[in-house]
Amino acid sequence: MIFMFVTGVGRTKFGNLNKSLPEMIYEAMNNSIYDSNISIKDIKAIYLSNFLGGPLNGQLHLNSIIASLIPDTSIPILRIETACASGSVAFNQALNWGHKFSNIMVIGVEKMIGSLLTKPLNAISMAVDRELDYSEGLIFPAAYALIAQQYMSRYGIDHSVLEEISYLNHKNSRLNPFAHFFHKEVSREMIKESPMVAEPLNLFDCSPVSDGSVAIILSNKKQSDRDIRILSSQISTDSISLTERSDITSFRSTRIAASNAYKESRIKPSDIDILEVHDCFTINELIALEDLKICDPGKASELVENGDLKISGKIPVNTDGGLKANGHPIGATGLAQIYEVVVQLRLEARKRQVNCPEIGLTQNIGGVGGTCGITLLGV
Ligand code: COA
Repeated sequence: MIFMFVTGVGRTKFGNLNKSLPEMIYEAMNNSIYDSNISIKDIKAIYLSNFLGGPLNGQLHLNSIIASLIPDTSIPILRIETACASGSVAFNQALNWGHKFSNIMVIGVEKMIGSLLTKPLNAISMAVDRELDYSEGLIFPAAYALIAQQYMSRYGIDHSVLEEISYLNHKNSRLNPFAHFFHKEVSREMIKESPMVAEPLNLFDCSPVSDGSVAIILSNKKQSDRDIRILSSQISTDSISLTERSDITSFRSTRIAASNAYKESRIKPSDIDILEVHDCFTINELIALEDLKICDPGKASELVENGDLKISGKIPVNTDGGLKANGHPIGATGLAQIYEVVVQLRLEARKRQVNCPEIGLTQNIGGVGGTCGITLLGV
């Protein structure tokens, strides 16, 4: 069991923000301090999660950028990169410092839109195996399309299940003013008729390219009644290339990280009240639910069809809109999932509030299942 608490959370809106990396970091950092009972001077160390600062923004050494934003600081600040799982991994690493520093901040940031250096899809592809997968055309939408083909043929589901996942996530994002697609009313027809990206995945099966930042403050003692307990944080890593996997309809990294998190916290999948899963492509939401043992392999589509994943359903999933509609600013994504679960457990989620949740789980994937970070939180 981990003896640390989340004592403050803050974020920016996700989307096309027209703000620089330091501006977004500053906003999220300030919002998290404002949300907590402590001051910036009480923060004794910072972990930063960022993936594409080099290729898209021409800016590395982001830890020192953060130091520029805090008056008279000389605290240790480190940057973590594990592709789209960077947020949950930075969170996990910050916990290791809990015995040494009373309050630690974890910040995630990504600026993906408007780069003059390269296109976002070129940059994101740096997280796939260059020799075995990229050279064969397996950029992310294509890799997840292969996974979707295998899954759909093995379990006999059609595209309408993926359309419903997309619809539900977009519906939830309309209740989240910070979401990338908060402003956009999306109908089932728009989803069904949207252009194909990689068969069978169309535009509305894909998460968007987003800017955004999130900050989370951890404390090794309880600061207020709004604090949320960290029950477990686990990381697992698998091979990078799809060619090295015997089965691509399930991710071993999720199964192992989740199993370790359940063991450490003594929590069973059936105890979980709310989930944030890594739906970078809609197919991943089905696979996540099965790998997390929320249901048996091949049965996740039944949860979708029965309405169990809705905010009012048996096991609400991605109440903020998920990566699909809340957005996917890569370095910030894993922390946005934690932000949402914290807000829900505090009963502060307003229009999208789930009925009195007590335990929440986040699943954050890097690459095509190459890294998985699982975080379990409780009241
Ligand atoms: N879902 C729904 N709508 C989307 C969207 C998405 N994923 N991406 C873009 N749009 C919308 C835009 O809002 C815009 O709508 P508007 O005309 O009403 O303003 C329109 O589509 C065109 O936007 P644009 O930015 O030109 O889209 P694009 O064709 O350049 O990009 C994708 C679309 C799917 C290729 C891009 O979102 C993508 O690459 N997503 C995957 C990112 C990824 O791989 N992340 C890592 C996952 S592991």
